[in-house]
Formats: sequence, structure tokens, C-alpha cells
Amino acid sequence: MSIPVLTIDGPSGAGKGTVSRAIAKQLGWNYLDSGSIYRSLGIACLQSQTDLTNAQAVVEVAKAMILEFDCGDELKVKLNNVDITAQLGTEATGSAASVVAAISDVRAVLLQKQKDFQQPQGLVADGRDMGTVVFPNAERKVYLTASAKERAKRRYKQLIEKGIDANLAQITDEIQARDKRDMERETAPLAQADNALYLDSSDLSIPQVIDEILDFIR
Ligand code: DC
Repeated sequence: MSIPVLTIDGPSGAGKGTVSRAIAKQLGWNYLDSGSIYRSLGIACLQSQTDLTNAQAVVEVAKAMILEFDCGDELKVKLNNVDITAQLGTEATGSAASVVAAISDVRAVLLQKQKDFQQPQGLVADGRDMGTVVFPNAERKVYLTASAKERAKRRYKQLIEKGIDANLAQITDEIQARDKRDMERETAPLAQADNALYLDSSDLSIPQVIDEILDFIR
């Protein structure tokens, strides 16, 4: 019997990470945060001062990187044996990830790393192309989104709560630029899979989104 997969795709800031992690925990399934793989590559390129637009050079960095994931309550990632968890969530990392993720050969190199997460008893896979490209045969697919304004407000609140200075207009611009790059790239653009449940979380709490998805998969 094949190992079940639930895919949750959507733009950045829609709540995919929190929701996917909670559902994986409730079901006792593995969790794949595919964005963290692209983020790790972004960090590897920034560290090695690799030109993010040089496809061949970025592919070499992708092939060489050794990643270790600890998917406990908080995701921890080691890149070439060094803990990079603290850098994963920064805006600079997110932007670099979005640029390298647009390179089709990079996506091909990182495909198997993502497929390897499909382990018993099941997998919740969070990203942009989980339901369309990486796990096209998944039994259940969700497209989770929210308005850009709402996503920017959430990000702003997170930063302020962490004591980090933030500017709402600038965050909104960054989110819109990232959406555009992720949706308009040629390879594996962010898109709703044909049979995916469409969920707009703009006016929903996290527990409400989790309940809707659990109802859908049962
Ligand atoms: O989900 P995230 O914000 O951590 O993702 C960071 C970037 O990685 C995002 O802007 C696009 C890219 N990404 C992707 O292209 N495909 C995925 N499956 C996940 C992320």
C-alpha cells in the first residue's frame, strides 16, 4: 500500500507552516517544509557568495550541500554540519530562496530530497508545487491562501512581537514581489492543483483552518 500524502501549497505567509506542522503532529505523520530546502540553498549561495542568477553555479551549490533536518516541535536545519536554523526565517533568506527556486535545473536536483520525506505512516508536504509536481498522486491536496494585505499584516505582527523593527508597506511590497516571482516562473510555478481544496485563511483562525483540512481528509 502506498504511503498517504497530504499536500498544502500556497503563497508565503498563508499559514501553511503552522497548519501543516499541527496536522502532521495530530496524524502522527512526517512533515516536509519544502521551502526550508530552498531557503537552505539560498543561505548556501549567500555564504559562498555565489551569484544567484548564475544557474550553473547555483546547481553546483545545490548538488554539494548536505542537509540534515530535525522536524521536532521546531524545525532545525544543519547545512554542511553547521546549524543554520536562526537564518532560515529572515527576509533576505526568503528572497534568495525565491530567486534560486526559479532555476529549473535547481528544482530537478532538489526533487529527490523532497520525495525522500514520504515515509510511514504518511506525509504532510508544504510548499508551492507539492500537489502539482513533487507529489502529483497525493490523495489529498489543499491550496491555502490569504490576501497579500492580510499576509503582510501577519508578518509585520510576528516581527514586532520579536522586537524587530518593521515597516508594513515595505513588507507588503516584498510579499507581492515574491508572489509574482513564485507564480510567474516557468518551472513549477505556484498554482492550485486541479483537485485541490481552495481555502482562503484571511478571515479564519489557525484552529479553524486546521479543522477544515482535517474534515476534508477524513
Ligand atoms: O515557503 P517559504 O516561504 O519558506 O519558501 C521560500 C521560497 O522557496 C519561496 O519564495 C519559493 C520557494 N519555494 C518553491 O519554489 N517551491 C516550494 N515547494 C517551496 C518553496
